[in-house]
Amino acid sequence: MKTSLIPSATSLRHRFKGIVLLNFSVKLWFVLATIGQWIFAYYIASFYGKSSLAGDFEKWNKVLPHGYVRGDGLGNTFVAAHVFFALIMVLGGPIQLIPQIRTRFRMFHRVLGRFYIFTAILIGIDGLVMVWTRGAVGGLLQHIAISVQALYIIAFAMLALRYALQRNFALHRQWAIRLYLVANGVWFFRVSLMAWLLLNGGPAGFDPKTFDGPFLWFLSVFTYALPISLIVFEMYLKAQQKTTRPLFRVLTIVVILVLTTLMTIGIFGATMGMWLPRI
Ligand code: HEM
Repeated sequence: MKTSLIPSATSLRHRFKGIVLLNFSVKLWFVLATIGQWIFAYYIASFYGKSSLAGDFEKWNKVLPHGYVRGDGLGNTFVAAHVFFALIMVLGGPIQLIPQIRTRFRMFHRVLGRFYIFTAILIGIDGLVMVWTRGAVGGLLQHIAISVQALYIIAFAMLALRYALQRNFALHRQWAIRLYLVANGVWFFRVSLMAWLLLNGGPAGFDPKTFDGPFLWFLSVFTYALPISLIVFEMYLKAQQKTTRPLFRVLTIVVILVLTTLMTIGIFGATMGMWLPRI
């Protein structure tokens, strides 16, 4: 029996449809994620911005158990810097990935990109100092998991910069997206937790008083140390290739759409239950 090396018109049509659907699912995810991240940015700017400008630093303690400590000027500076860096990261990340801005305003992309990478390294170091010197909510496993994420942030920031300087834009793009994904780990954590609370009608699988328990171990591992976002990104890269089996592409699309649905529930929960009430 003869087998042709040239793909049939039907298989080409299926591949085309698969790639269109794949790109659609990623764009949908990105648009919704950007809306959710900018609502988070609005909360950061309003809550920390207003209280800091008014000199009411004690207000931070309404949301951060280790936020403002009287007499600990250095520690408080680390917290203030952290939320300021957070604002840059959460606002700037999506802007860097919008293709129209990247191609039309190259200079802006370069300047913001360097700023973003520099801030990523600073927030990673600052976060590590905060977790291991001031303490944070949750148990040891959560602290280890978020520390691994800090290392990813620092490493991916350096790799994204390195490939941009080498003008290897294919690899630069991949590492910049990985950086964006790990830098959003804290956002994914909050949004996933709120989706979980909404779907369960309240806390389940952890103790809300100690903020510790199996569900939070699971969540911190899969948002920080072994991030699902990175796994799905690798699936997406593979699904884009022409030689990938159609079934794998379909699986990737389904995974992205299911995660997008959960993320949308979580954005709604976090906005209504966490961010807007605090402003
Ligand atoms: C780009 C990445 C990050 C962003 C956008 C970010 C954002 C924030 C924000 C907004 C807060 C204030 C809490 C709130 O109002 O919800 C916060 C607190 C905090 N962050 Fe980050 N963060 C990032 C990375 C990290 C990393 C990598 C670490 C640790 C290695 C870390 C450790 C902390 C700690 C310890 C607190 C105080 C929490 C507490 O007192 O329990 N952050 N972060």
